[in-house]
Amino acid sequence: MKLKDFDGDNAAIHDENESIPTNDSGNRPFSDVLGAAASRRQVMSGSLAAAVAGILAPEIALGDDDDDDDDDDKKPRRKRRRRGRKLVDFAPVTLAGYAAKSQGGTIPVISDDYDYQVLIPWGTPIIPGVSEYAGDPNSRPTAAEQESQIGIGHDGMWFFPESRGDDDDRRSGFIGAISRLRGDDDDDDRKLSNRDGMLCINHEFGTNSHVLGKGFPESLDDVRLSQAAHGCSVVRVARRRGKWDVKYDRRNRRITVNTPVRFDGPVAGTKFLRNPARNRPLGTVNNCGNGFTPWGTYLTCEENFNGYFGWNDLGFEPNEKQSRYGFTAGGFGYGWHEFDDRFDLSNPDYENEYNRFGWIVEIDPQRPWKRPVKHTALGNFKHEAIAIRVAKNGKLHCYMGDDQRFDYSYKFVSKRPWKQSINRGVNPLSEGTLYVARFNDDGTGDWLELSMKDPLLAERFDSLAELLVNTRIAADIVGATPMDRPEWTTIAEDGKSVFWTLTNNSQRTEPNIANPEAPNSDGHIIKTRDRGEGQGTKFDWDFFILASETRDTEGVFTDPDAAYCDRDGRLFIGTDGGQPDGLQDQLTVFDTTKDLAPGELPEPKRLFVGVNSDEITGWAQTPNQKTAMINMQHPGNGNPSSTNFPAPTDGVTIPRDCTIVITRKDGGKVGS
Ligand code: FEO
Ligand code: CA
Ligand code: CA
Ligand code: CA
Repeated sequence: MKLKDFDGDNAAIHDENESIPTNDSGNRPFSDVLGAAASRRQVMSGSLAAAVAGILAPEIALGDDDDDDDDDDKKPRRKRRRRGRKLVDFAPVTLAGYAAKSQGGTIPVISDDYDYQVLIPWGTPIIPGVSEYAGDPNSRPTAAEQESQIGIGHDGMWFFPESRGDDDDRRSGFIGAISRLRGDDDDDDRKLSNRDGMLCINHEFGTNSHVLGKGFPESLDDVRLSQAAHGCSVVRVARRRGKWDVKYDRRNRRITVNTPVRFDGPVAGTKFLRNPARNRPLGTVNNCGNGFTPWGTYLTCEENFNGYFGWNDLGFEPNEKQSRYGFTAGGFGYGWHEFDDRFDLSNPDYENEYNRFGWIVEIDPQRPWKRPVKHTALGNFKHEAIAIRVAKNGKLHCYMGDDQRFDYSYKFVSKRPWKQSINRGVNPLSEGTLYVARFNDDGTGDWLELSMKDPLLAERFDSLAELLVNTRIAADIVGATPMDRPEWTTIAEDGKSVFWTLTNNSQRTEPNIANPEAPNSDGHIIKTRDRGEGQGTKFDWDFFILASETRDTEGVFTDPDAAYCDRDGRLFIGTDGGQPDGLQDQLTVFDTTKDLAPGELPEPKRLFVGVNSDEITGWAQTPNQKTAMINMQHPGNGNPSSTNFPAPTDGVTIPRDCTIVITRKDGGKVGS
């Protein structure tokens, strides 16, 4: 998340706090490695992608022979290379085009080859009989209404299509990416709907001024409204007569910071999660990016959870973990701790409440009665997002970023092949090994194990549970590489490589050849690939692109954040930061399979540009890839004089976070 240009209440504090590094470990900064790798990149910049794409990319399916855009098609899917048509081949939004069409940044602009539609803006009811909040500046929803409406801060999401298959298909809802992930045949996707399904979506955050209409809560009711605006929605969405809308369904539900949850993994049932108040585990908060599992569930990632806590006893001293994770007396200015004891770190009755956040959380979109599960084996940090691939041996490899300046990149490997775990009735994410990345100068990297096998960690911690609760501190000890704010991860088209977005690091002080700007204000994207199918702990890595290299080009973008690589190799990047040349945050697309000449850079093509002060987040798509969804987060930072989107411009209506449904005018795959 990043908020800018906003002189309201807690928005500025939000941004500031996210930016403060809390890592004093002295581990070698990644900027050093960039320098060391610079000469190599001269060779690799063109050949990096070329080599990687050339070696790794098998025959890929280009285009889609299926001209029918619903799920009734019974033709077998054919894979062939369509001559003369590029993988990414649309008319991009040009700088001049954006300037001409955006009406001063008050409305979004999409490629001439595409259409968009707004879906589920903040305040949309998801159960019958609830009114809509449509942006009236003189009112806000009640907390009770908000609990049955779409929340704010749309971020990570995934679409779980309805299925005509057997129960297993319906339950798992696997689609394109997921069937690839499972190693299943593409034909499975053909049972799945392209116009009807369950959407799981994160509501990362909404400032007090946006949600409450005032800078600070004045009552527990105000806090409950703020809390209900955060969390996740599970909502059925369907396309009827060409238009997507909410469909009322018994599976529709809101999950907030007050929803019962349960823990699994090594920390479950330990003292670290227990409070003297004996309160049951409740809720999830600051749900940023996401992932999905091969068995058809949704993963939501708790990022800046520290911002919702504070302390009322001014004599309170934060402990080592609380300092390392950036807890402060006032948090991000939400004021929850002033009315809700759970969020007051100085209240001894709730002394471990803060350990209940900062996890990867699993949600079953098909079973509304199931509590969300917090997977402690995957570590405790500011989880941005998670991408999972299945190794040859069936084990899950889960790639995750910890979004803070100078924090780390992580990987979790499941103990068993995932199907074996499922057959035993064990969740595959409940046991395994957590690693943190060290990037080496020679283009290799090491996954450093975070376990009690390490003598230094065994000396520092009494149990694996204690280690996991203090994941950042454990990673400091083993010498992980401090990164430039690791955001999303996504699995490349080859099913093996991983793209990592690193959004920026304004506090980087050493210029170098690879990224001569100090601070690094533009961010970059790295590609890694585990050696030996991930059996060992070595990986290879290289830059995919440094965003600064796109400056002064028509495709310019900075601050890469959201990322999704589709099964054909189109990499979609959503940005989060002040974009150059009069642009707002954007969705840009790369062909990651293209053979590049030496020195040639991957070419970003701009598909969509948002409105003033917004951020482009999230990604979801239908099985046939012909409909995609992205999110517009905090348009205008809630300020109606900046934009009123999605309402028509009137200078008054409160702008609302919303999902943007994207289709190609000619019915082709999105990004093509
Ligand atoms: Fe929620 Fe790091 O973005
Ligand atoms: Ca954000
Ligand atoms: Ca961000
Ligand atoms: Ca983000």
